[in-house]
Amino acid sequence: RKATIVGVPMDLGADRRGVDMGPSVVRIAGLSAKLTELGYTVEDIGNVPVALAEMRRVTDTDARHKYLSEVAKSNEILANHVEAILEQGALPVVLGGDHSIAIGSVAGIAAYYRRRGHRIGIIWIDAHADINTPESSPSGNIHGMPLAVLLGYGPALLTQIGGFAPKVRPEDCAIIGVRQIDDGERQLARQLGLRVYTMRDLDERGMSAVMDEALDLVTRHTIGFHATFDMDFVDPYYAPGVGTPVPGGGTYRESHLAMEKIHDSGNMLSVEMVEINAVLDTHNRTGELGAELLLSALGKKIL
Ligand code: ARG
Ligand code: MN
Ligand code: MN
Ligand code: MN
Repeated sequence: RKATIVGVPMDLGADRRGVDMGPSVVRIAGLSAKLTELGYTVEDIGNVPVALAEMRRVTDTDARHKYLSEVAKSNEILANHVEAILEQGALPVVLGGDHSIAIGSVAGIAAYYRRRGHRIGIIWIDAHADINTPESSPSGNIHGMPLAVLLGYGPALLTQIGGFAPKVRPEDCAIIGVRQIDDGERQLARQLGLRVYTMRDLDERGMSAVMDEALDLVTRHTIGFHATFDMDFVDPYYAPGVGTPVPGGGTYRESHLAMEKIHDSGNMLSVEMVEINAVLDTHNRTGELGAELLLSALGKKIL
């Protein structure tokens, strides 16, 4: 089995600087060597170019969707890479960066499978729903909008990456771990009938049952799913290095269980780790957890 790593040092979608180092800290944690140990043939194609907020040619600072054109540009490039990785028969492993990069990852996967007549699903593990639009967003940060974009809501510059929209249907998506949601997000999620598993669902039913249901849902009408893991799903106790921490999150064990079950489903098409903030981390603890969680999603077992 081939796995190809691509990094996206993107932080223009988030207020707090430091998630641009995410690809680096997960690599430093030894992802590539550990994947090789797991039996993968690993290739790392490096990072997608991302503008810096300090660059003079960065001009797109509209407060409703900050750095829109820069975010769109990197995501277009990412989408092409992800599609090319799939064409080579490899599994894309995408390292963020803030969560706006899911726009490009999913665009690439959706384009590849659409050409072959298939729908794809998404497992979105996150403290947030990331389903804001420029109209509903309280922050104007695009990392709070990627799921809306993939469902076809938001600026055409983002929804039309790859030349078609939407990339996924609401019934093929599941969000797991939500505990912070904005008013407009709640409204859109309801309107779309989106399956949102909150922390309450995890507390009452347990991660195992929730994952069984979610995995069934996202594979019912699809060829498989993209797994996108926002590190802020994990409780800040275990993952201090994130830009938008929210108390009351998943434990270390729940997080690994989710990833293990994703692997065991046999239907994961691609995987992504986002929102690791090196500046706020201590001794790369969060970076190492990110790498280990990816390994669980890619088949690492205790026995
Ligand atoms: N809902 C908030 C916003 O729109 C926070 C989003 C956090 N998203 C993330 N990918 N960490 O600004
Ligand atoms: Mn997110
Ligand atoms: Mn989040
Ligand atoms: Mn249906």
